[in-house]
This record gives sequence, C-alpha cells and structure tokens, in this order.
Amino acid sequence: MDAVDSDCHQDNDVPMNDTVKGNTVKNTKKVLLATIAVGSMLALAACSGGSGSGSDGGDGGGDGGLIGVAMPTKSSERWIQDGNAVKEQLEEQGFKVDLQYAEDDIPTQVSQIENMITKGAEALIIASIDGTTLSQVLQDAADADIPVIAYDRLIRDSENVDYYASFDNFVVGQQQATSLLNGLGLTDLEGAPAADAPAGPFNIELFAGSPDDNNATFFWNGAMDVLQPLIDDGTLVVKSGQTDFEQAAILRWDGEVAQERMENILTSTYSDGSKVNAVLSPYDGLSRGIISALTDAGYSVGAEWPIISGQDAEIDSVKAINSGEQFATIFKDTRKLAEVAVDMASSILNGEEVEVNNTTDYDNGKKVVPSYLLESQIVVKDNITEVLVDSGYWTEEEING
Ligand code: BGC
Repeated sequence: MDAVDSDCHQDNDVPMNDTVKGNTVKNTKKVLLATIAVGSMLALAACSGGSGSGSDGGDGGGDGGLIGVAMPTKSSERWIQDGNAVKEQLEEQGFKVDLQYAEDDIPTQVSQIENMITKGAEALIIASIDGTTLSQVLQDAADADIPVIAYDRLIRDSENVDYYASFDNFVVGQQQATSLLNGLGLTDLEGAPAADAPAGPFNIELFAGSPDDNNATFFWNGAMDVLQPLIDDGTLVVKSGQTDFEQAAILRWDGEVAQERMENILTSTYSDGSKVNAVLSPYDGLSRGIISALTDAGYSVGAEWPIISGQDAEIDSVKAINSGEQFATIFKDTRKLAEVAVDMASSILNGEEVEVNNTTDYDNGKKVVPSYLLESQIVVKDNITEVLVDSGYWTEEEING
C-alpha cells in the first residue's frame, strides 16, 4: 500500500512547485514528519480500538464470519470495481460477504445495512450515499458491537465510525486542477510553470460533486487551492460568475444534471461567440454530461475544444481521453482501497493493530476518524498504458474496444 503524507490539507499551503513524487504535489518536510508520525499512529490505533472490537476479537479472520459491504450504486463503474475487489479480497481471507448496492436511494441503503446487522455481520464496510443519514443504523450497529469502516466517503455526524479508508481527497482536487493547467499549456503535470506558458486569459467553468458527499468539498478545496491564485491574477476567468461551491455542486453526482447546467451556462454566458476553454469536472460521469452539452452546442474536438478534467478512470472516459474529448482523469486504484478496508476489518476482528496514516483531517462532526489515505495519479493520453494497462487495471482491448 502506498501511504501518503498526513499533513492537514486545509491550510492551503501547498505551493504548486513543491517537491513532487509521482504526480502528487508534496512537501518534503511534511513527508518526513508524516513518516515519523505514522509509527506513533499505529500505536494510537491499537489503543483506540473500535466500537465493536471487543467481543469479536480473535474469531473473525478466516473463520467464515460475515462482513456486510454497502455500496452506493451500480450506475457508476467505479463502485462495481470497488464492490468486486472488496468481496474478492474478503473471501480470500475466509470471510463470507453480503455485498449490496442501493442505487443511490438512501432508505434502501439504510435497510440494507439493517439487514446486515440482523444477519449477524461481524463488521460493516460502508460507502455511503449521503454521509449524514446513517446515524441511527450505525447506533444499532454499535449496540450490537459491530465495527464500522467508512469506505472512500466519510460517514458524518456519528460517533460509531471506527475507521476511514480513502484517498487523499484534497490532493485529488489539486490534481484535477493541475491537469487543467497542464492542458492549457500553463504548467507541467506536476504543476511547475511552463517556460513558454501562454498569457491567457482563459475562460473556465467550475463543477463540484454532490454536496452530501464529504469528498466533494475536499475535491473542491483542493482544486480551488490551485486555481484561485490564477483567477485572482486574471489568467483564468470564470465567465459565468458561478464561483461558489453551492452553485457548482451536482447532487448525487448526476451526469444529466451536469449536462443541463453546462447547457445553461453555454446559453447564458457564451452566446456572444466567446468560448469556454476549460471545465473543472470532479468525476468522469459529470465530464461525459459536460462533453454532451458542448457537442450539442456545436463545439468539436480539434476546433477550440475545451480542456476537461475527471476522476475514476472509468472505461468510457479513458476512451474519451484517447479521442481527445476529455483531457485527463484521476486514477484511484480501487484494488488498493479494497485492500486497505479489508485489512482494517480483519485487523479489528483479530484484535490486531489497525494501520492508519492520518489522524487529523477527517472530522465527521462528532470525532476525527482515524484514516488511511492512498495516493492517486493524473492520467492523460500519454500515460494511459503506463498507469492503467501496465498495472492491470484495464486491458489494452478494453481501452481500444
Ligand atoms: C468518490 C469519487 C467518485 C464520486 C462519484 C466520490 O465519493 O470519491 O471517486 O467519482 O464519489 O461516484
């Protein structure tokens, strides 16, 4: 597993030309401190235990105990990859798995989790739809001494969340913004200014994720950390004037809603013949909606087509990167995330130390949830093979098919 630094990313202090490892903007001093901190966090995690780590300790791993896995929706490919990876890895460790998808319907997810508790699940791994709606069912889990791992999305407003497995979501947002600057010719992929950078100004429009998903604000804050200085100095112009998270947010990450919003912006702001040059999109499904709106409005690839970001390396979007419709996506290896969550569950149930690398950034409103954050990578046309095919995430045939 690739650990990332555990510095607090809300202090907006990561300059774009910081030391870079892979594609992740990093600060060397912080990495060093974080490395030292990880050692002490292991001990901390061991002491903190989980709400359910008591009675089940020792009889979980390999004994065929049941683990409940709640995923938000099958309408997005990434969650199918996540669900399959978690199930496979739990089964390899000898667990039985109850894997459920809720098709983005909150009451369905709540009742699926209730069923898991009734069936005697020993632990729950939950990727929530709305991070604020699970307090009651998680209280039921705690009453039954069942530990809970928040998977990728932090579950908010509940003390009964034991651990959080995710990516460094602030860095994901920074990478999305950096990919746009790279596509515009302003920086390299690590965010270092290009020698022959054009002066601009460039018109940019901003999209954010679902406001009920804790990740959406982290992605937005990370992206704005990179973009705001360039908006302030006039290099980037948000021509619609829609610069607030609330204006940019797309409920339930719905691609059709993103398409409508892009259509409205094109009509209200770009009917004078001006062009949008870049679109910040935090998820491939939204990018596809945005691409449809642009195509319908007469934009075409190769003729002032804008630079568009994304996230998740979904297969249709990887194809769109190959064809030039989308400029970049952010790859978050769901197999590694599954590994983190599965290790957490099995460690808790075996009474072992749970490995975490961040105990500061993810406050869910009731407590700071001990977290393990993984690294993500920017994918552009040039590194699709290296990042996605060589790692076995997609095959050449899938990408070209
Ligand atoms: C995930 C993203 C995903 C989005 C929409 C977020 O919580 O972190 O990877 O693009 O949900 O499914």
